[in-house]
Amino acid sequence: MTEQFTVWHHDQIGSTNDEARRLATEGAPHGTVVHADEQTAGRGRLAHTWFSPPGNLYLSVLLRTGQPAARTAELSFLTALAVADTVEALMPRQTRAMLKWPNDVLVNGAKIAGILVEQADQATIVGIGVNVLQAPSNAAYKTTTIVANGGIASVDGARDIVLDRLGHHLAVWRADGFASVRNQWLERSYPVGAAIRANAGGQPITGHFAGLDLDGALLLDTPQGRQRIVAGDVTPAGE
Ligand code: BTN
Repeated sequence: MTEQFTVWHHDQIGSTNDEARRLATEGAPHGTVVHADEQTAGRGRLAHTWFSPPGNLYLSVLLRTGQPAARTAELSFLTALAVADTVEALMPRQTRAMLKWPNDVLVNGAKIAGILVEQADQATIVGIGVNVLQAPSNAAYKTTTIVANGGIASVDGARDIVLDRLGHHLAVWRADGFASVRNQWLERSYPVGAAIRANAGGQPITGHFAGLDLDGALLLDTPQGRQRIVAGDVTPAGE
């Protein structure tokens, strides 16, 4: 099945995810896309705000995959692959995008894009923010942009590429299931065995990256044994 996307463009909006949710409750079809030049209430994961001035990509895609809600998390890994492809397509050839659990996209250790996947009625909303020209200077982590890495300053180019790559990875997911997505994601993430720290709400847990479980949960080897982490984020152990 080839994905068909219909893009609704806004000069300014609160949050493209909120607008996509609203459209979902009105019955908007699979492939509906909300794109805004600027967000006044951009949202990130874990209740963070998302820096959203003009010059970056803010996009939400409404998906009706027909799959159970339990598979929603798989879409965030699949989307991270599409975003990493997009970032690499816009940057100089040798520059690589790296993935950090659950779905951050980094270049040279700095965050260049974020993904926020939410469930709305029978639909999944996949929100994507890519720092093309602007990055926040006051974030709790290192940030960067496409342009700061010598890349192409095209928000519309980023939008077109990310939708194309999302269509590709959705097709692979439909045909081959999560295993293929998971393997591709692991190829672009920390090497298995890397020392990382997981922040999952309580005390941070330090251990060695042991890959992804079959549902996308983070596997962490600790002195107390292997732990499964389903929500939170990770940082290299030394940072
Ligand atoms: C993260 O915390 O890393 C996720 C950030 C997701 C930001 C995007 S921008 C488009 C969409 N609309 C939002 O309000 N958030 C997402």
